[in-house]
Amino acid sequence: MIPEHTIAGSKDAAAVVFIHGFPFNRTMWAPQMEALAASHRVIALDLRGQGQTPRGLAPQMIEFLVDDVIELLDALGIERATICGLSMGGYVALRLIDRHPERVHGLVLADTRAAADDNAGRVKRAGAIRGIRADGMQAFAAKMLPALFGEAKVARDASGVGTIREQMETTDPEGACDALGAMACRLDLTERLPHIETPTLIVVGKDDTITPPADSRAMHEAIPGSKLVELDDAGHVSNLCQPEAFTAALDAFLEALPA
Ligand code: MLT
Repeated sequence: MIPEHTIAGSKDAAAVVFIHGFPFNRTMWAPQMEALAASHRVIALDLRGQGQTPRGLAPQMIEFLVDDVIELLDALGIERATICGLSMGGYVALRLIDRHPERVHGLVLADTRAAADDNAGRVKRAGAIRGIRADGMQAFAAKMLPALFGEAKVARDASGVGTIREQMETTDPEGACDALGAMACRLDLTERLPHIETPTLIVVGKDDTITPPADSRAMHEAIPGSKLVELDDAGHVSNLCQPEAFTAALDAFLEALPA
């Protein structure tokens, strides 16, 4: 399925594809889309069942989400792109480069990890599905926001809190449950990291408690030649907690990519 998406920038410029985290949508990339559209062809998509992209047939798997990104690249006539994924978007990006390395010009892994869920993680996913079905997305958002930003930032409605809350509250609950199932069943790609030959940037908020900096440091050590940027005063959605610093790191990485 070709996912719903937003495109900006010149058709002839190098392409950057943004993949959002869970349970958000493509609007989470607004600051980066706006900043980079002058120099790049920027594309942000909604994963199946989140944002405006329909759920598709069950079961949902990371594999189908990868297929959707490739279908979108094909439909847009893009041979190779820089793929930038945050958290769940990073799970998709890592699987995409594993299956289709020839389509990836640069890889950006933000606030994500290569390891699969462990036993406790899977039990937690099942609990999240039950919770969403019982109480809906508003309650889920209220519970998840402090983990994304920290209590204090949610209380004072810090940068990014409002937009992420709205994205979570408007996500189709069953689409969110599909995504939880897909994340719970994803492959452990840790062993694949040393095989990545594409220039890679890893970005993480120093206060990220969902995919903490230790996960990013482990990926950095495993991916040959990768660059790691740890952002001060940033939680899990580091591109919104520190939009300027995140964009500056991304911009510098893109500028240094071979033509
Ligand atoms: C995300 O932001 O995509 C999720 O928190 C990732 C996860 O739950 O593993």
